[in-house]
Amino acid sequence: MTQDELFKKLVAHCKEYGFIFPSSEIYDGLGAVYDYGQNGVELKNNIKRYWWDSMVKLHENIVGLDAAIFMHPRTWEASGHVGAFNDPLIDNRDSKKRYRADVLIEDWLAKQDEKISKEVEKARKRFGEAFDEEQYRATSPRVADIAAKRDAVHERFAEALNANDLNELRQIILDCEIVCPISGTRNWTEVRQFNLMFSTQMGSTADGASTIYLRPETAQGIFVNFLNVQKTGRMKLPFGIAQIGKAFRNEIVARQFIFRMREFEQMEMQFFVRPGDEMNWWQQWKQTRMAWHRALGFGHDNYRFHDHDKLAHYANAATDIEFNFPFGFKEVEGIHSRTDYDLSRHQEFSGKKIQYFDPEKGESYVPYVVETSIGVDRMFLQIMSAAYTEEKIDGGEERVVLRIPAPLAPTKVAVMPLVKKDGLPETAQKIVDMLKFDHNVAYDEKDSIGKRYRRQDAVGTPLCVTVDHRTLEDGTVTVRHRDTMEQERIAVEALPQLVDREVSMRRLLEQVRA
Ligand code: GAP
Repeated sequence: MTQDELFKKLVAHCKEYGFIFPSSEIYDGLGAVYDYGQNGVELKNNIKRYWWDSMVKLHENIVGLDAAIFMHPRTWEASGHVGAFNDPLIDNRDSKKRYRADVLIEDWLAKQDEKISKEVEKARKRFGEAFDEEQYRATSPRVADIAAKRDAVHERFAEALNANDLNELRQIILDCEIVCPISGTRNWTEVRQFNLMFSTQMGSTADGASTIYLRPETAQGIFVNFLNVQKTGRMKLPFGIAQIGKAFRNEIVARQFIFRMREFEQMEMQFFVRPGDEMNWWQQWKQTRMAWHRALGFGHDNYRFHDHDKLAHYANAATDIEFNFPFGFKEVEGIHSRTDYDLSRHQEFSGKKIQYFDPEKGESYVPYVVETSIGVDRMFLQIMSAAYTEEKIDGGEERVVLRIPAPLAPTKVAVMPLVKKDGLPETAQKIVDMLKFDHNVAYDEKDSIGKRYRRQDAVGTPLCVTVDHRTLEDGTVTVRHRDTMEQERIAVEALPQLVDREVSMRRLLEQVRA
């Protein structure tokens, strides 16, 4: 199965099993907007809890916040979003399709890396056991040729982005002979900037309505509350403020399912530090956040850092954590050193002093900020992509199983009476009632046990408990584990402890402990 086919299956699976639906589907949906169904909302809530607890519970110096989506319009002038939150867009005159110029070039660069990998694989087959990849990469003229061309374009691209040189971006697209994937032609327009913020009106026109924006990031709600939290919480530097909430961007090229949405959710933490300490903290937060991702067990090699070619207007260092999605390595999280840009700008635009008095230094200053910013929806897609597995089981049968890490699984236990009679449903219901105060528990009595297992595998339920006639005699049940399909017989009284152990969030959090 190709990665493309796998991705299509994953999207279909998300819908069929109540994870994700297109928004307002009965009206044919709304572009790049999605709803989370009965299983999706549970997974999403668990992702948010994993993040929140790893920030707020594990760090004594990080506290939470829930700021409003609507903010005073001056916020976005101060933050630079009104002037500079733009995407460089280019149109193909033949297909009438619009693209992000930077994405077209990034895709071209990724294709060059693929070409090099293909050369290496061909050589590996040719040379067999004796193949030395490092030596081949260093000496092959063909690889050197592709790499030199790639590096030259990469350098031009980084310079053009940093200088905001739209003509040069277009020239790179022409020089690399990039064609529109729809029309196949190179009939491109000029590159233009397009602001990504959604705006609306607040108040009635008669009263003098004002234009306000739907926030494109949650971070500004934290910045404008810096003094409120610092003073009321008597926080001392370094300290952090964490927030989870909706953000909105009028993405023109909305692609790849929930990867790039117009309405999405962010989990952001702004860590306020002394000026000069920011690079140390930036390094530390890179490691902590990578550990948070890797604790999920999806394989070390499926993650990498990617330093930014172009720094945002507020940053002096920035990296992304990328995950190996079915459509390649892509950003899941950004870790940015934002300097004192935001607080200073809010100080300037509001006319209010936003400073911290450092008792050790005996002076006041505007703190520096290290930000960690991750999209809940992208994290969701990461988990679903890594968890979706098709496998052959005994008897030539196939199963689709979602290997979602147990603490994040939507349902933790499914309780099933073997038959719908002889008091087995009543006993099973008692087990549900015993477990439901601590865990999400499902009750299922329909179809054969095999079919019921398949249904639970498909939504990632880590444990199935079967109640049979022996349960009535000796008070034991069969517990079946999702990933190994192994079964064990245990006493009903031992169930709460077993379930706690198997699905506890603690197991994950211990790997990222502060
Ligand atoms: N406050 C900094 C900030 O917003 P960003 O790199 O623009 O930085 C942070 O966004 C994260 O938010 C990304 O790494 C991604 O996970 C998520 N994100 C951004 N735009 C998104 C979109 N259109 N759809 C889904 N997630 C998005």
